[in-house]
Amino acid sequence: MISLDKQYLKGFVEDKDIKGLSSRIQQGHEHLEKKSGPGGEFTGWTDLPGRIEDNFLKEISKLGKAVRKDSDCLVSIGIGGSYLGIKATIEYLRGSEIPVYYAGNNISADYMHNILKKIKDKRVTVVVISKSGTTTEPAIAFRIIKEALSSRYSQKELQKRIICITDAKEGALRQIADKNSYRSFMIPDDVGGRFSVLTPVGLVPLGLAGVDIQGLVDGARQGQKEYSKFDLDTNIAYQYAAIRYLLHKKGKMIEVLSSFYDNMYYVAEWWKQLFGESEGKDKKGILPASLMMSTDLHSLGQLMQDGVRNVFETFLMVDKPEHSVLIPKEKEDLDKFNFIAGKDLDFINKQAYKATAEAHFEGGAPNMTLNICQSDTFHLGQLYYLFERAVAISGYLQEVNPFNQPGVEAYKKKMFALLGRK
Ligand code: PA5
Repeated sequence: MISLDKQYLKGFVEDKDIKGLSSRIQQGHEHLEKKSGPGGEFTGWTDLPGRIEDNFLKEISKLGKAVRKDSDCLVSIGIGGSYLGIKATIEYLRGSEIPVYYAGNNISADYMHNILKKIKDKRVTVVVISKSGTTTEPAIAFRIIKEALSSRYSQKELQKRIICITDAKEGALRQIADKNSYRSFMIPDDVGGRFSVLTPVGLVPLGLAGVDIQGLVDGARQGQKEYSKFDLDTNIAYQYAAIRYLLHKKGKMIEVLSSFYDNMYYVAEWWKQLFGESEGKDKKGILPASLMMSTDLHSLGQLMQDGVRNVFETFLMVDKPEHSVLIPKEKEDLDKFNFIAGKDLDFINKQAYKATAEAHFEGGAPNMTLNICQSDTFHLGQLYYLFERAVAISGYLQEVNPFNQPGVEAYKKKMFALLGRK
């Protein structure tokens, strides 16, 4: 279960304000259901969880077992939507059955050198992911890693060890996969990069790494059931979209996703791409930022409490963490913390959260909290779907096309000119 706590929006956004947006949200909802709004051709993600076949998930898990038997590590090559969902899921689960190294998500020579060093004496399987099949960062990383592996493996062995995930027909990666008879999986045309975690983009590498992809998809199916209903009283994805829009109208230009659970770090990175790329266009958008508490309370906490009041905050909390760690009692009590001896660390963490939410609200930073029952794959799948639904409605409320990203081309044109591409 995921719930939304709105107590610290008081005076900024009330239930009646959310209800006031009802007809506009209904319009956005109908656009999504009928695929009739701006970018409607990229709304395949809306009913995707329900369309994924359990047999496909079993097939991937079976392939994963075989891959892990023959490999010490995976290298996952991709950037943006072809990277963040995989990394977010594995970090959220605090690791996978086999180490996963990520390449193609930056162009740093030292980073690549380090990856090559790490995989030098290891048995490696490579998953290269690119929807367009033409993105510079993963393309050059694939070249480098392929060359490194070519000196160790025969072409026949490489065909076992290289898996491509790309478009069914278009792009250089499709050509490379077909020409070399690499195993490949197709990314559906109607799902954009940042919405693709539940397509083969996310499911294949995660399944190979031994992640419970069935649980992830089951959770997303629950999300689809709960958040594709037009019922503003119960649909927290739509409520969240409405609240963001209303706060933005009141001059809150930045949304900070804050968590007191460190495994949410890359979930927040995934969320930033989803919201930043979907809404930030036509000179509009809310800047998505993130904080990791309580660490950042000792750095940016000052600004959140007391800085320019153009910020609102969304906390991402976990009701029941997996483990319990108790605070020991000390005989001498020199640090004067015996008063909390015997208490669970999570109890202290939750008091820190409660204190922060109240203090930030009193300091003029309205906030809300998404509470996840526990950190398992099911709830992550549900959360992914919640955010996807929310950003689509939020984008429509802001009157942008939430499914394109024309702005990401600008740097590419200039970079290719500098590199002398014909
Ligand atoms: O959201 C998007 O579409 C982009 O940010 C992509 O995720 C990113 O550029 C990677 O693209 P591709 O999978 O085509 O290599």
